Amino acid sequence: MAGSSRISRRDFVKVVTIALSSVMGAALGIPVIGYLIDPALKVQSSEAWIPLGPLENFPLGSPKSFSFTRSSVNGWEKTVNSYGGFILRKTETDLLALSSRCTHLSCSVNWDEGNNNYACPCHAAHFGSEGEVLDGPPPAPLDRYETKIEEGNLFIFFQKG
Ligand code: FES
Repeated sequence: MAGSSRISRRDFVKVVTIALSSVMGAALGIPVIGYLIDPALKVQSSEAWIPLGPLENFPLGSPKSFSFTRSSVNGWEKTVNSYGGFILRKTETDLLALSSRCTHLSCSVNWDEGNNNYACPCHAAHFGSEGEVLDGPPPAPLDRYETKIEEGNLFIFFQKG
């Protein structure tokens, strides 16, 4: 037969080989690309309202600790940082949210119920219940978080400093 539209066996094998190679390349390449760009897709904002749960979990009068984590991405390196603080609930809706990070060299302070102050274990500093410096080397009071209450849940505003 003299049909010039027929393809040879060699051309058919070539076309099938290219098609299969393309499908296999896509099957292998798409997950690899997804893996490579995944960190960039999971970046957490440097600012966010952090939910701390129901307001009734924070009793009146005595500071209660909280903690949360935030991740940041530098290139393909992901870092997870921990943050913490204390909620002092003065009245039903009057709240004070303090960072637990000492303003001297960033050690974590602890609430000392007996002495009614925050104590920094690193250089024996103390902060009052409102975060003010009582003694020691810290140059500034404990940082404060902005707070809000929505539908009975407490949030603090995180800003990466
Ligand atoms: S780190 Fe807190 S007093 Fe030095």
